[in-house]
Amino acid sequence: MSLEEKIALCSGASFWMTKAFPQYEIPALFLSDGPHGIRKQEGEADHLGLNASVQTTCFPTASLLGATWDEALLTEIGEALGREAIQEDVNVILGPGVNMKRSPLSGRNFEYFSEDPYLSGKLAASWIKGVQRTGTGVSVKHFAGNSQEAKRMSSDSLIDERALREYYLPAFEIAVKEAQPATVMCSYNKLNGTYASDHRELLTDILREEWGFTGAVITDWGAMNNRIEGFKAGLDLEMPGSKGAFDELVHQAVLSGQLSEANIDQSVLRILQLIERTANHPEKQGNAQQMYNQHHELARKAAQGGGVLLKNENSFLPLSKDQRLSVIGKLAEQPRYQGTGSSLVNPTQIYSFLDGLEQYGADFSFFAGYELEDAENEELLEAAIAGVEQDATVIVVIGLTEIYESEGFDRTTLSIPNNQIRLLSRLAETTGNVIAIMVGGSAVETPWMEKVRACLHMQLSGQAGGLAAADLLYGTVNPSGKLTETFPLRLSDVVNASYYGVDPKQVPYRESMFTGYRYFDKAGKNVAFPFGFGLSYTTFAYDQLQVERLKDNEFVVRLEVTNNGPSDGAEVVQLYVSRQTQGAYGPLKELKGFAKLFLTSGERQSVALQLDKRSFAFYDPDSRDWLVEQGEYKILLGSSSADIRLESSVHLEGITPEKSAVNEWYYTLEGIPSLKDFKSVYGDFKPFIMPGKGRFTVECSVFEMKDHSFIFKQFYKAIERVIAKSTTADGKPDYANVHFKMLMASASDNPIRTMALLSPGFLTFRRIQLLVDLANGHWIKGFRRFFTK
Ligand code: BGC
Repeated sequence: MSLEEKIALCSGASFWMTKAFPQYEIPALFLSDGPHGIRKQEGEADHLGLNASVQTTCFPTASLLGATWDEALLTEIGEALGREAIQEDVNVILGPGVNMKRSPLSGRNFEYFSEDPYLSGKLAASWIKGVQRTGTGVSVKHFAGNSQEAKRMSSDSLIDERALREYYLPAFEIAVKEAQPATVMCSYNKLNGTYASDHRELLTDILREEWGFTGAVITDWGAMNNRIEGFKAGLDLEMPGSKGAFDELVHQAVLSGQLSEANIDQSVLRILQLIERTANHPEKQGNAQQMYNQHHELARKAAQGGGVLLKNENSFLPLSKDQRLSVIGKLAEQPRYQGTGSSLVNPTQIYSFLDGLEQYGADFSFFAGYELEDAENEELLEAAIAGVEQDATVIVVIGLTEIYESEGFDRTTLSIPNNQIRLLSRLAETTGNVIAIMVGGSAVETPWMEKVRACLHMQLSGQAGGLAAADLLYGTVNPSGKLTETFPLRLSDVVNASYYGVDPKQVPYRESMFTGYRYFDKAGKNVAFPFGFGLSYTTFAYDQLQVERLKDNEFVVRLEVTNNGPSDGAEVVQLYVSRQTQGAYGPLKELKGFAKLFLTSGERQSVALQLDKRSFAFYDPDSRDWLVEQGEYKILLGSSSADIRLESSVHLEGITPEKSAVNEWYYTLEGIPSLKDFKSVYGDFKPFIMPGKGRFTVECSVFEMKDHSFIFKQFYKAIERVIAKSTTADGKPDYANVHFKMLMASASDNPIRTMALLSPGFLTFRRIQLLVDLANGHWIKGFRRFFTK
């Protein structure tokens, strides 16, 4: 291939496809979102879930799949997705997403498995193995340090080395080491000052050299910052491809010696290997309809496995079949079963909770009770209250509506909509028999919990979620889901609540690795529902703990679990390691093993879990190595992070524990970590200063420049008009409309240069630069630059 051809191969041909070179028998690949289904777009393409896609199975989103803690199930779902990809001629599925839930406010938490990196990594690896078994490839995303939506294309995540290695990277590491994903997708943001697309340490030193990744690295859509630096960093494929916007620059860089052709050859080879690995799909299944029907059943099984029973006062649940029900809540009729954005799937079938009840022949009345928009509607509310029958059990379906969580923007509250809380209060005054079914893809505050007798959290449960919720309520299936993120009592209890999202352009991760249960545990703060929590209709007893040393730092932990309750069910056994030494700072305990067991009533099963050096080690930034401190380590086995049933301890040889020279906060977690505290773990850094008029660059967004520049004010208004036209009913800007809000964030608050990548056409790099020059008032310089090659 000529140099031009090789450069051309390294960027996409169209929104979803790579380039074909028939003269060399190189076929094109089709890449497609999910990842909880296949979002194959045959018509107009977009990366935010706006235009149509073909009908495929909509499985529950990752937050629910995480709550199953079921590796075998995730492999099964992965395989099903792989088969659907084959059916739709898709070669690579853009997922799974394994970013850490640094804050419950992050708008995209529903697309991620957990606040725990070990659990996320293990589940991702299981899912990937399933997909790749079919010959379809995956793209683990978004690598790395992307835990917010605000300014996601330009924010700079400042993460200290230990937090990075021990908390933000391990999910990727486990997925890479255990499942060798075909591709890894770099994130949009900067990590410690360098865009992920240009980050050699991340994409080559860590990913390939340390972890042994052999696949291709691709950009997130429009994430390419500097293509020349990208090649040097090990970024192979630029998507969607920017219609060759970078090609000439790269060509010149090779000719001038600024970039070695060997860098390009390396990426070309990796892309060819990717093509070789994923282009030749096996034969399609004979009967697609039959396959989709089977996958619908699998989606139901997944939703059953991830529904979390949060409360069940005096065994109020399960329901009996002849119980008369009053069902209230618009969400019972109009299900919210997946999240907004690039992961949006067009389901093959869809069942609401009311459909689920009908399947059981339930005797019920229904009242909407509230509107999905967060507005009071007295009529709906009063009709629901008046409709509650004397002896009926009330089931109220509540939770986050679309506008509350989405790709593209973060949440600002952990509350469910006010109109629903009001409904709950009124119901509680009317009857004592209320069961709540909750939907939503991330943690919420639950101060209303005392008003209900039972609560089943169904998250975003996919196309069969309505059926699964009924299965769980009637006890056809026993709930076994466990939370994979802590539910705090209130937002202000979250360690980073006071600074998360406040200044999204440069984000010091002040709390280091102390998020989720790693924070709450050590800070001694009560929570509403701890990590790993979930009730069952049966009970489990743990005994016979034995810890056997295999080698110095390797152990096998054995125990017996008995279902000593009245019904069949599943338990998630969780293994935490708690370092007792007083050297390097760290969490009180961390998840290092788990197993999901299915036990009939009365059945007893043995469990064996392995621990190795990494289960005990911390990352030492000085030696750039994983070290173990000499001393005691507790081995804790429990049914949740707060319900430890068995305990043992082991002694490990290692380095002598020595306290790190960092501020006390990282040892005590008292109060809120200050910037000064953070600098003691991170080192010094230059604060970001937003450039003002005269100093704007193509790194600034239209939103950032609009109040200082007439040109960008007009530009902003034009974007608003165009987006409103395609998203709102009356064609006027409406920030309460989720699609409008998401698109505005995406179109107006990203570095303006990304417009040349995502909407190539009129907005070329050259024209964008001219606009910025004009906004700076540099007319002569701007036009001179514009007309100079
Ligand atoms: C998202 C990715 C997605 C891509 C393609 C981006 O905006 O961040 O997760 O795979 O679009 O739709």
